[in-house]
Amino acid sequence: MQRGLIVLAAAVVALLAPGVRGTDHLSFDNSTQVNITRDGCGATKVCVEEPAACDPAGNSSCLFASVTASAPAAPNGTDLAVELSGRSAGYIAMGLTANASQGTALIFICARNNQNNGSFFFRTMLRNNTDSTLSAVETIVTGIRSSVDGDLIQCEFTVPGVNATSTRTTDATTFAILIGTGTTSGTEVGALMVNRTSSPVDVSNPSGASTTPTPATEMTTSGAGRAFAPHALLLLLMSVLKAV
Ligand SMILES: *[C@@H]1O[C@H](CO)[C@@H](O)[C@H](O)[C@H]1NC(C)=O
Ligand SMILES: *[C@@H]1O[C@H](CO)[C@@H](O)[C@H](O)[C@H]1NC(C)=O
Ligand SMILES: *[C@@H]1O[C@H](CO)[C@@H](O)[C@H](O)[C@H]1NC(C)=O
Ligand SMILES: *[C@@H]1O[C@H](CO)[C@@H](O)[C@H](O)[C@H]1NC(C)=O
Ligand SMILES: *[C@@H]1O[C@H](CO)[C@@H](O)[C@H](O)[C@H]1NC(C)=O
Ligand SMILES: *[C@@H]1O[C@H](CO)[C@@H](O)[C@H](O)[C@H]1NC(C)=O
Ligand SMILES: *[C@@H]1O[C@H](CO)[C@@H](O)[C@H](O)[C@H]1NC(C)=O
Ligand SMILES: *[C@@H]1O[C@H](CO)[C@@H](O)[C@H](O)[C@H]1NC(C)=O
Ligand SMILES: *[C@@H]1O[C@H](CO)[C@@H](O)[C@H](O)[C@H]1NC(C)=O
Repeated sequence: MQRGLIVLAAAVVALLAPGVRGTDHLSFDNSTQVNITRDGCGATKVCVEEPAACDPAGNSSCLFASVTASAPAAPNGTDLAVELSGRSAGYIAMGLTANASQGTALIFICARNNQNNGSFFFRTMLRNNTDSTLSAVETIVTGIRSSVDGDLIQCEFTVPGVNATSTRTTDATTFAILIGTGTTSGTEVGALMVNRTSSPVDVSNPSGASTTPTPATEMTTSGAGRAFAPHALLLLLMSVLKAV
């Protein structure tokens, strides 16, 4: 409830003042190093990558994202632990959406500041899936860990309180997951170029999930399967629609 209200309020604030990008919704963990591998893909975590089945360990040409859902714990719901790795002079990103061909996607961006020695920064954005525009949104993200080595960007973070207890169906944890890259100018982010979008997949059931990804170019023409956003994402999307 409280978290839902915070998310709602943050979304409205972001819409009223799109130029203002607070970072109070982000917390960093600079004490732990990132360590991202394919270990657990399809067993304990859902993975999306480009090219198919590439391993981010020791291979910077692999654009890779994984999502691990914690067991739902009342009253806070499921936490999503995310890993993201890839090569970009600007940023790499992963997104969660109910339907990749309509509505919005919640985008998590790990970026290098090209005007400050490639130092790391993090952004949450909302992508309009119809016209691909990005707008700032303040989604709570915790435990952000990062590594920038030349143009190899890696990060790990947690999206807390995705509320799976408010529903008995698996739809609450079912998303299409997209991965992509973009440019930066200082701490401003440019357009997101999507490299790959997965079919809708239940992130709480990695081994049962059909993770057959479809190329980004095909996503616009194929209707994605039936999927619903989790409670928090729904609240967010509803508040955005009300405010428009
Ligand atoms: C990285 O994680 C793998 C397991 O996923 C582990 O075997 C390895 O020791 C870890 N490496 C470091 C440097 O922590
Ligand atoms: C990196 O991944 C790409 C794509 O999967 C593959 O073609 C290439 O051989 C890999 N390189 C190494 C060093 O593993
Ligand atoms: C639930 O969320 C609250 C507020 O973020 C936090 O203080 C509490 O530790 C969380 N409880 C569990 C079991 O994660
Ligand atoms: C970038 O790094 C160099 C060497 O560490 C340092 O001299 C310079 O001040 C840094 N530039 C910025 C903008 O921080
Ligand atoms: C942790 O890292 C982030 C991103 O590089 C930075 O903004 C933040 O100031 C760092 N925090 C501490 C306590 O060093
Ligand atoms: C997305 O963009 C389209 C075309 O510009 C617009 O009609 C629609 O209202 C936008 N959707 C949202 C949720 O902002
Ligand atoms: C999660 O959903 C349950 C059931 O609807 C509700 O009681 C609880 O307050 C929700 N928790 C959060 C953090 O929204
Ligand atoms: C992702 O797409 C961008 C832009 O189309 C391209 O430059 C980049 O090589 C792609 N990355 C991978 C890993 O395929
Ligand atoms: C996803 O969006 C497409 C295009 O707007 C639509 O045809 C399809 O029915 C939608 N799927 C769901 C589950 O809403």
